[in-house]
Amino acid sequence: MSYSDLRAFLADLCNDLLTLKQPFDPKHEMAALLRAMPANGPAVLFENVTGHPGARVVGNLVASRQRVAKALGTSESELAATYLERTRQGIAPRQTDEAPVKEVRHIAPQDLGALLPVLTHYAGDGGPFITTGVVLCHDPVSGRRGMGIHRMMVKGGNRLGILLANPPLSQFHAAAEAAGRPLDVAVALGVEPALLIAAVVKSGPQGPDKMDLAGALRGAPVEMIRAETVAVDVPARAEIVIEGHVLPGVRETEGPFGENTGYYFSNLSPVVEVTAVTHRRDFIYPALCPWTADVDSLLSLAAGTELLGQLRTQMSGIADLDLTTGTCGFTAVIALAKARPTEVRRLIHLALSMDKRLKLVTVVDDDVDIRDPREVSWALATRFQPDRDTVILSGMEGYVIDPSCGGGTGSRMGMNATRGSGPEFDKITIPAAAAAKARAVLAEIGQG
Ligand SMILES: Cc1cc2nc3c(=O)[nH]c(=O)nc-3n(C[C@H](O)[C@H](O)[C@H](O)COP(=O)(O)O)c2cc1C
Repeated sequence: MSYSDLRAFLADLCNDLLTLKQPFDPKHEMAALLRAMPANGPAVLFENVTGHPGARVVGNLVASRQRVAKALGTSESELAATYLERTRQGIAPRQTDEAPVKEVRHIAPQDLGALLPVLTHYAGDGGPFITTGVVLCHDPVSGRRGMGIHRMMVKGGNRLGILLANPPLSQFHAAAEAAGRPLDVAVALGVEPALLIAAVVKSGPQGPDKMDLAGALRGAPVEMIRAETVAVDVPARAEIVIEGHVLPGVRETEGPFGENTGYYFSNLSPVVEVTAVTHRRDFIYPALCPWTADVDSLLSLAAGTELLGQLRTQMSGIADLDLTTGTCGFTAVIALAKARPTEVRRLIHLALSMDKRLKLVTVVDDDVDIRDPREVSWALATRFQPDRDTVILSGMEGYVIDPSCGGGTGSRMGMNATRGSGPEFDKITIPAAAAAKARAVLAEIGQG
């Protein structure tokens, strides 16, 4: 099943959507609520937004794997397989004339902060930051589309600071700048989860158009329409679109910003001059609080499952891969069937060189539940010998927001926590019939 847009998805969430009618301020109060949500808690709709009558804000949207699975019309257990199957072939977007995102048009807006309820998240943040903006633009040389989430600081008036640390957008901007030209961009806000996930897939320079990937993930083309003031097509059913130009040769402080690493990060970044904002009459602004489960599950699919697929093209027996929550995609656990030590070393080398974010990887056997931190710690505690089972790669590319790299190179580590061959490594088990009875009784008394 594909959702036509964000609001169609929200309408289908029923009890998995918490609607708050109390007033919440986009400055700190909304982020505080989102940070306080329990694990696997519902999505949150703020209906009473201080300073922005009529606007609504949604957050915690994809914070549970169950909701991500629902967004793709599949089950949690089938999520990775569904993702890998669908992304084998893209579905190209389709042009349309029907564009709810253009119900209201502000050409040359003077005060972006007054138009949109952009959240200020953490105590030390330098201002409000847009965190779910799907930034769309084209390579000034080849015309190829680029698409990614890039944080944007509301700087006052019609200016936004934008962090362009990752390709392809960083490369497109460099090419435009080399020619002394501004880069046209459009930022889609409030898109359905499939499109959000596609925006952050690690597709690489030869990878497919991410809008085709979005179509593939939702099983239907994304409907697009030309923006008002820039030569970029935008999702017609988004809630909001911001249009503008990244100015050539301009760098300004952008930050501090409480990042997905759990630390503040400031940068000298390019600036977007906004030329238009269009939105639905009753728009829903999308929040994504950094360093929360919302970010974890986006990365889990777009970076984790994508890496799993890439590794499987190189090696057999890889059962599953999980990016550890809260680590911004720097830490992963991989389950391998019938692991031999030489294969584990090869897998560690492959994983640590394929993904520029990945810094620590633990390989376990497929009798370990890699999403249960207790089981992963148990495998490390009982199957791993540090001097024998550690692989360290030095002088690797550091990731820009990792404070431990100090802006330079970094090192990476793999740990082989797979079992030896003897029966002393056989996991203790409960007889199946007794386990089934225990589960049934607990389910009956509502504790299952
Ligand atoms: C929540 C989230 C926030 C991101 N913010 C930025 C950002 O501010 N700047 C940036 O250059 N990339 C950012 N990225 C990564 C880009 O969207 C990137 O294009 C995408 O993840 C593709 O993978 P890559 O890192 O291999 O290029 C972010 C990714 C996620 C999941």
